[in-house]
Amino acid sequence: MTDSTPRFLADYRPSDFSINTVDLIINLDDTCSQVTNELVITRETNTAGDLELNGEHLTLISVSLNDQALSAEQYLLSDTLLTIPAQILSQVENEFKLVIVTEINPLENTALEGLFKSGDAFCTQCEAEGFRRISYYLDRPDIMATFTTKVIGDKQQYPFLLSNGNKVAAGDLANGKHFVTWHDPFPKPSYLFALVAGDFDLLEDKFVTSSGREVALEIFVDKGNLHKAKHAMVSLQKSMAWDEEVFGLEYDLDIYMIVAVDFFNMGAMENKGLNVFNSKYVLADSKCATDSDYFNIEAVIAHEYFHNWTGNRVTCRDWFQLSLKEGLTVFRDQQFSGDMHSSAVTRIQNVRLLRSQQFAEDAGPMAHPIRPTKVLEMNNFYTLTVYEKGSEVIRMLHTLIGADNFRKGMDLYFQRFDGMAVTCDDFVNAMADASGRDLSQFKLWYSQLGTPSIKVAEHFDEIKKQYALTLTQTLPVTSAQKAPQAMHIPIKLELLSSEAGNTSSQNHLIELTQSEQTWHFDGFTEKPVLALLADFSAPVKVDFAQDEPSLLTIVNQANNSFCRWDAGQQLLLANIKALAVSNSYQLPQELIAMFNGILASLDNRAFIAEQLTLPDFDEVAGLMEDVDPLALTQALKDISQFIATGVEQQLLQTYDLVSQDLLAGKDMVANRALKNACLSYLAVLPAHQHLLAKQYKHADEQENMTESLAALNNLAENDLPELDQVLSHFEEKWQDTTLVMDKWFAINASVVSENIFERLQALISHPLFSLKNPNRARSLIGTFAMRNPEYFHNIEGKGYQFLAEQIELLNSINPQVASRLITPLIQFKRFNLHHQGLMKEQLIRLQGLSNLSNDLKEKLDAALAD
Ligand code: TRP
Ligand code: ZN
Repeated sequence: MTDSTPRFLADYRPSDFSINTVDLIINLDDTCSQVTNELVITRETNTAGDLELNGEHLTLISVSLNDQALSAEQYLLSDTLLTIPAQILSQVENEFKLVIVTEINPLENTALEGLFKSGDAFCTQCEAEGFRRISYYLDRPDIMATFTTKVIGDKQQYPFLLSNGNKVAAGDLANGKHFVTWHDPFPKPSYLFALVAGDFDLLEDKFVTSSGREVALEIFVDKGNLHKAKHAMVSLQKSMAWDEEVFGLEYDLDIYMIVAVDFFNMGAMENKGLNVFNSKYVLADSKCATDSDYFNIEAVIAHEYFHNWTGNRVTCRDWFQLSLKEGLTVFRDQQFSGDMHSSAVTRIQNVRLLRSQQFAEDAGPMAHPIRPTKVLEMNNFYTLTVYEKGSEVIRMLHTLIGADNFRKGMDLYFQRFDGMAVTCDDFVNAMADASGRDLSQFKLWYSQLGTPSIKVAEHFDEIKKQYALTLTQTLPVTSAQKAPQAMHIPIKLELLSSEAGNTSSQNHLIELTQSEQTWHFDGFTEKPVLALLADFSAPVKVDFAQDEPSLLTIVNQANNSFCRWDAGQQLLLANIKALAVSNSYQLPQELIAMFNGILASLDNRAFIAEQLTLPDFDEVAGLMEDVDPLALTQALKDISQFIATGVEQQLLQTYDLVSQDLLAGKDMVANRALKNACLSYLAVLPAHQHLLAKQYKHADEQENMTESLAALNNLAENDLPELDQVLSHFEEKWQDTTLVMDKWFAINASVVSENIFERLQALISHPLFSLKNPNRARSLIGTFAMRNPEYFHNIEGKGYQFLAEQIELLNSINPQVASRLITPLIQFKRFNLHHQGLMKEQLIRLQGLSNLSNDLKEKLDAALAD
């Protein structure tokens, strides 16, 4: 069906043709929707070749050129292209009209790309290359056209007919149908096209821009869910105000619509004027959503809104440049979240994700630079690397040139490129020109892959009273990267010294640009303690066996909150690693002293919750070699037990105190975070396990999902006797609430118990389970594979087998979802030979499937390459 030859960045050529206008008429029908696509095209050069239009899964009905029907001999048709030969086009002027009529089957579209059905509604997803499943087109982001879309559908079933831009006409038609015509005045690439048709509840509000224009805000949700859209609406208004205040960016159309759907491959999509969202990132009320759901909704609403400038007004020249919009927009949404909440805690959570998941990607078979150079299936490159590491790269620019220059660079970027499709280099050049800095070496962050490792050596000259710091940087050598060059790495650091009981600190920003470099710092009476990577100023691994006393000094004394948190994590990491390689390793009492210190004052509760939280399985595994996954899960259990036992009384006291504050209504989100961090330790001590069912019962009465779920998660993780009864109660109560049932499936998949495989089989046959719903598939299969390492890595390979079986089924249903879920299997090289062998066995079997999608093929071929 699809072409299986990769594409290369180096092969980019501008198109010989441009498209000025697109006039679509889409006549909706479940199994046979008809699309009439009228294009006004300009031939840009006299040497233009054939016009090759992309198209997949389309039934071609007719093609006409300047109102003359073309016969089948006058064009070429393949599974992926409609070609109008240059010789046919030589008969018309440079500007010509092409009308293409096609038919498509939305009901059978389980891949959820192009036009599909989500429940009773029609909906589209075009990024990256989904428009070619709607009509034949030059489906590449540097082709920007003005769209007018007439949507026709049954009036009763589809009272709302939506597309991008402004509504320009509407009316009734024969046979109970009606139509609405939309015009989007901003030329856009096809990936930003959207259409939605359905019956919804509509939440309406408005936003008045800084220049005084009134924008209508409309959020469409499934009937009965209106009250659950309020948080999304407020989040949208906050995002609009923030972007004006921080970047001087105003919204441009008179209407901004968001539609929430249950069937969606990713989080959300920034279609011009008509965002489509996974309902998970819109719907919330305090009964059914957790605090982190609220946080994530606000962040995703902001992300899609910010794309209006970073993505839509200025878009990508080609898909290799994806990080141009995604890295930058993630940076913007992270800054926004930091401003709305605690910037320290937001930063910590971003760094956790990076270290646990992005570092693994960087070390695995699909490692790629944030600007990839070779792509088979573009959907495989919506990665943590392009998004999260891409954001870190933007953040480093911000650090290097400073906030004021960064803002000037953004202004210059929009001044130069508004309305254009550009490259990552164009962005960095704007930053260089605005700041007067030479960023040529910095650009290596876009072309080199892998996580840099920084080795630290320190020396204190007792006579000169001078501290010398030597940093060495290395990048991984791979077949795609034989001789990596030294990068430009901003390193913020703090040097702590104590004199007569007073701690003082020096703060520095140094720029590591060579393979090895030494800096000297004066003004100390004795060797200072180094707190490296303040604010996590660069996405690197630090290779530095800092001693326990120094780490504890940082935990207690550093000014930078990230450093205080990180030093604690480093101490934990070192101990978990030691436990995982030797079960006779004795954990040091200093750990208990550290936790005592953390729990001694409770002034910054969300931050303390982060300090109490252990690094996860993936983060530790990424720092080890030949990992024995079962020894690692045991080590994680042992250290929890050790800490819980060591600070039992403090945990209990904190749990009680925070519970009191919650009853009094104080600082709810932070207190709940701390309460649940304590609970996860108390849950491993038999004397306190009764607290779990008690908290569940209380939270259930109070209708608080954050607290209910924390209790349930701990019951599941510790496989306690009350678990099944509580799970049944939860299921009974929430069986009609889709998003909450996703949580129920996820908890079931994370039960740490021998009987998990029988449980999984029962869940697969549950009447509410379906692989066709991506959220459901991810809740059950993704949670098991990524959040239940003890049984995913079952010694006989049962976990790998389960995952592979489900991926095989998903391969024919939804290749994008299948391809995301295979992640933990392709990372087999980090594990010991026994587990590697079992994982590979499954990968080899999958590679042999006869109908393997490009999505899976690209990953399997990379994983099994050597
Ligand atoms: N551009 C979207 C975002 O980051 C990503 C996205 C949404 C997407 N749906 C998709 C990418 C489907 C690929 C396929 O906000
Ligand atoms: Zn995005």
